[in-house]
Amino acid sequence: MPKDNDGVIIRAKLATDDDACVAVMERTHAVDGYPRYWPAKPAKFLRAQGETDAWVAADDDGPESRVVGQVALHRAEGEPVLALAQEATGLPAARLTVLARLLVHPDARGRGVGRALVRTATERAHASGRRAVLDVLQSTTGPARLYESEGWTRLGPTSLDLSGFGYGDVPPLQLWVYLSPAPG
Ligand SMILES: CC(C)(COP(=O)(O)OP(=O)(O)OC[C@H]1O[C@@H](n2cnc3c(N)ncnc32)[C@H](O)[C@@H]1OP(=O)(O)O)[C@@H](O)C(=O)NCCC(=O)NCCS
Repeated sequence: MPKDNDGVIIRAKLATDDDACVAVMERTHAVDGYPRYWPAKPAKFLRAQGETDAWVAADDDGPESRVVGQVALHRAEGEPVLALAQEATGLPAARLTVLARLLVHPDARGRGVGRALVRTATERAHASGRRAVLDVLQSTTGPARLYESEGWTRLGPTSLDLSGFGYGDVPPLQLWVYLSPAPG
């Protein structure tokens, strides 16, 4: 069932949403530097291999509906967050899930869309018996404030070596790892 937040609907992401999500990511890359490096296959970057769930935020449910944001959950196996998340929770990788690819179009910010996407993904994680974790660029502060205001805890730093991802000779990403609040 889609959720309505101040005129913004959160619903499951469809294959037909891919282009619109890439268009939002073009804006966040230009405005916020997220993602840090533009991927060669942007739709595939947004639909990573480990994706298990994904949602979009749309500003209307009708024919004029426009996608203004998205978020996904990814399998935790092999993700840079895994070591810290397991150390903190004692859970196996299968009981962890990574909240990823959170984006809100700059024109739609400050209306609670990001918060609604984070809540939707966290609720799904908890409802399916998984604890959510995430990583966020240390160089950005807005997203971390959002996660902290939702009760997420910073576990510590990690880094992601990008060699082999096709971005050329770039330094590793410096990240913070966050853990979702314990399921209520
Ligand atoms: C982070 C992001 C998703 C927030 O989207 P949003 O729809 O504006 O977020 P919300 O309106 O739900 O804001 C929720 C809270 O986040 C915090 N926040 C969001 N953006 C912020 C900013 N730029 N600076 C400081 N705090 C910010 C605030 O605490 C805010 O609560 P408040 O409005 O009650 O003060 C959006 O800025 C974005 O897409 N950024 C670029 C992509 C990115 O960095 N994604 C995160 C990858 S880990």
